[in-house]
Amino acid sequence: MPEAPLLEVQDLGIRFGGLHAVRDVTATVRPGQITAIIGPNGAGKSTFFNLISGFYRPTSGQIRFLGEDITRLRTHEVVARGIARTFQTTTIYRELSVLEGVMIGHRVRTRAGLLDALLRTGRERRDEAASREGAMRALERVGLAPQARRPAGALTQEGQKRVGIAMALASDPRLLLLDEPAAGMNPEETVSLMALIRELVAGGLTVALVEHKMSLVMGLADEILVLHHGQKIAQGTPGQISRDPAVVEAYLGGHAHGGQMGQSGEGAAHA
Ligand SMILES: Nc1ncnc2c1ncn2[C@@H]1O[C@H](COP(=O)(O)OP(=O)(O)O)[C@@H](O)[C@H]1O
Ligand SMILES: [Mg+2]
Repeated sequence: MPEAPLLEVQDLGIRFGGLHAVRDVTATVRPGQITAIIGPNGAGKSTFFNLISGFYRPTSGQIRFLGEDITRLRTHEVVARGIARTFQTTTIYRELSVLEGVMIGHRVRTRAGLLDALLRTGRERRDEAASREGAMRALERVGLAPQARRPAGALTQEGQKRVGIAMALASDPRLLLLDEPAAGMNPEETVSLMALIRELVAGGLTVALVEHKMSLVMGLADEILVLHHGQKIAQGTPGQISRDPAVVEAYLGGHAHGGQMGQSGEGAAHA
């Protein structure tokens, strides 16, 4: 018997004017697994994460996390329930230390807003010690504790990605959403990042990630959700997805992405 889903979305959708960026998506994320969301550029992958994390308010459908309806919650309320995310591009405060960057990034996300965080100076000071400890623990989880005092701008591209992950981990989430974690990385860095993601999941975290690199997705994901023009066209294991006619059509039909599923077929041979 498969475990009950951690996250369930039902008929989820959002429209921007006439554009259905995400449309009628029903999908699940199971605990202890890595779920990948794939699809051509503009398919609605980042928007899907923006909906789950409360950055966008859906125009239809429902989001349930641990059985609770979180559809109408705001970002900091979603974070408090145990969902954290990274962004496709993470703003790193280059002059600040890695540790300070994680502390600030975390505070900005967990309060109602930056202004709020800035105004509550008394409370901020009281929270400072706890915040520092939480940030340090998060840096340990991503292997950056020894770099905590270095300026964030001195880290490699991969190191900065790890800082972004640490910012998300500082809220101690159950579910971590990663938006294109391997973007801009060389193959070596990609392998190292995959190992980190596996480690985090082995430690009890559930991960959902958006990714373009098929080799990464096929080698890492337990379950794959495929979006195309905002709609779900398939969800299944890497093996099932690489053989799915609708998926092959969506990829081979697009110009920029032709051939990517071809590579993935080999990667899925073990499934
Ligand atoms: N805030 C927004 N306002 C208007 N259109 C948006 C907004 N966010 C995303 N979109 C549109 O929604 C579609 C899906 O975008 P996105 O989710 O970023 O795609 P992906 O991450 O799969 O490449 C695109 O056509 C994009 O232009
Ligand atoms: Mg995107």
